[in-house]
Amino acid sequence: MCGIAGCSGGKRGIKSVMNILTRLEYRGYDSSGIAYVENNDLCVIKSLGNLQCLRREVSENTNVDTVIGHTRWATHGKPSIQNAHPHLDASGRLALVHNGIIENYQLLRSGLSKQGILCNTETDTEVIAKLIGAAIVEKEETGAIINAKTVLTVLAKQLGFMKGSYAIAFLFRPLPNYIFFAKNGSPLVVGQGQGATFLASDENAIKENCTGVLRLKDGDIGYINYENICIYDKKLNKKKVHLSKIDQDVEAFNLSGYSSFLNKEIAEGIGGALKTLRRAKKEIASTLPDNIFLTDFDLHITACGTALHAGRIAKYLIERELRIPVSIDFASEFKYKKPILSNKSICIFLSQSGETADTLGCVELAKSCGATTIGITNVKGSRIAEAVDYCLYTYAGVEISVASTKAYLAQLALIYALVFYLAGVKGKKLSFSLHDITYILHRLENRNYLSSLNKYLNLIKQQSSLYFVGRGIDYFVAMEGALKLKEICYIHCEAFAGGELKHGSLALINDSSVVVAILTQKSLIDKMLNNIHELNSRGAKVILLTPFTKLAPEVFGLIKLERCRDMVSPFCSIKPLQELTLYVAQKKGIDPDKPRNLAKSVTVE
Ligand code: F6R
Repeated sequence: MCGIAGCSGGKRGIKSVMNILTRLEYRGYDSSGIAYVENNDLCVIKSLGNLQCLRREVSENTNVDTVIGHTRWATHGKPSIQNAHPHLDASGRLALVHNGIIENYQLLRSGLSKQGILCNTETDTEVIAKLIGAAIVEKEETGAIINAKTVLTVLAKQLGFMKGSYAIAFLFRPLPNYIFFAKNGSPLVVGQGQGATFLASDENAIKENCTGVLRLKDGDIGYINYENICIYDKKLNKKKVHLSKIDQDVEAFNLSGYSSFLNKEIAEGIGGALKTLRRAKKEIASTLPDNIFLTDFDLHITACGTALHAGRIAKYLIERELRIPVSIDFASEFKYKKPILSNKSICIFLSQSGETADTLGCVELAKSCGATTIGITNVKGSRIAEAVDYCLYTYAGVEISVASTKAYLAQLALIYALVFYLAGVKGKKLSFSLHDITYILHRLENRNYLSSLNKYLNLIKQQSSLYFVGRGIDYFVAMEGALKLKEICYIHCEAFAGGELKHGSLALINDSSVVVAILTQKSLIDKMLNNIHELNSRGAKVILLTPFTKLAPEVFGLIKLERCRDMVSPFCSIKPLQELTLYVAQKKGIDPDKPRNLAKSVTVE
């Protein structure tokens, strides 16, 4: 993953790059660093920990105009100052930042060592810096004049030796106001501001400073300096630079009075779902070809993490309500299981970021099998959006907190809209209406569960393991509730289908167990209450989320959910579970926006 940043022009380059890095921090936050040239010296400052740590070490008001920066999510080598970027070439004149993975770095590294050039870190990135640096020295030794063109020639040649994905940016001390870049696989965006140019892994990070931005294509190399953005293809043919205007969503980056982005985004979830639902009907009809679901097809859903949990609800609804079989897989498994796909297959890929490498890999695989591909993503212009045949968008707004909350609700909204669309095409009647969904979303708009959850927070905070149970559609919400608590509160959580308990998992339950149970399906009340009895009999403390409080179930804790149609209940049951995670994180003193070891865009497999 990792985020890379660059700025050339203006007097406050360090400040600009620190601001860009702040917006890229969701991509990784185990260490960070910047580099710039000052008084003909190449200065590199690195720090372990999140950006706050780097901020303490740099002087943001230093008068330098050209700076590169990096925020890291470790792939090769543990988080350490040494492994943090920027990395230097052997001459100490070139500093480079990288996002991606160089797969043949070991081979390249041993080639370098045979030339007497040793790497000092465990990273794949250092190899890139050392290779380019050594090739420039070689060029100098032939008497060539080193200017931007020569550096690009060297860069193009050296990239030819690298296998893998990269977005790189580097400074070369003799050309202090140039930032050279290259892209293959990992995202990279350049932007033009007033008297300055910028680059970053994501356009949201620079758009505030820019009048126009351009997402680079794989194979692009080039440079930015004070005024110019120059882009070339692999063969060094100059490309025309067409910058596009950008939508500003500056509010998304402000906490607006909330204690964390997670807190803010949970609150924004219902609004995003309503917006998605409002736009989806028209957009699905205008995006998908009329006959797409009219001929014979087999349907597949692929995603990761939270997006996969939304996908599981899609499968449940499509099968139960429309009697259409759906296969579902983790993207990381789908790609390697030799899936049965043909030109009759329709594959749906769910991804908030639209950048997840595992999911993107599956899109490519599906296309190579002749399948029709449909993306559902929150980010226009993202790699998955561009790769699929048809893309449907969710309107959750920019999601910053690493854990997905509002995007999940928007994915649900889009899934329900797609189910309506499919029902229309197939002439089927559903057990719920669009009105049922909008009605319940409006009821949930100002609903907050703090007072109901408060008395259980200390108990949950103390747990090292926690179980979630549900049946039917509730099981998939239980999975998502477990994932949220696991990733943000560092509590081992597992979700069980209620009926499966007695087939093994019940052995884990004793009088110190805490179980969060969900019961929203009328037809499953008796079965789920039986499961709760089984848990009670083993001494578990069951906290039950249900609209059926009148049944007065014998439980340790009861959280009343809004009453709605059975198949619409995920909107109701996920809200208190997202809030539970936030409040437990607050009790534990964890930064809920940046859980350890994780990053928001998972751009490596
Ligand atoms: C969990 C979470 C992750 C993502 C997963 C897929 O809170 O956010 O599980 O859902 O990494 O990411 P996208 O949806 O961007 O493909």
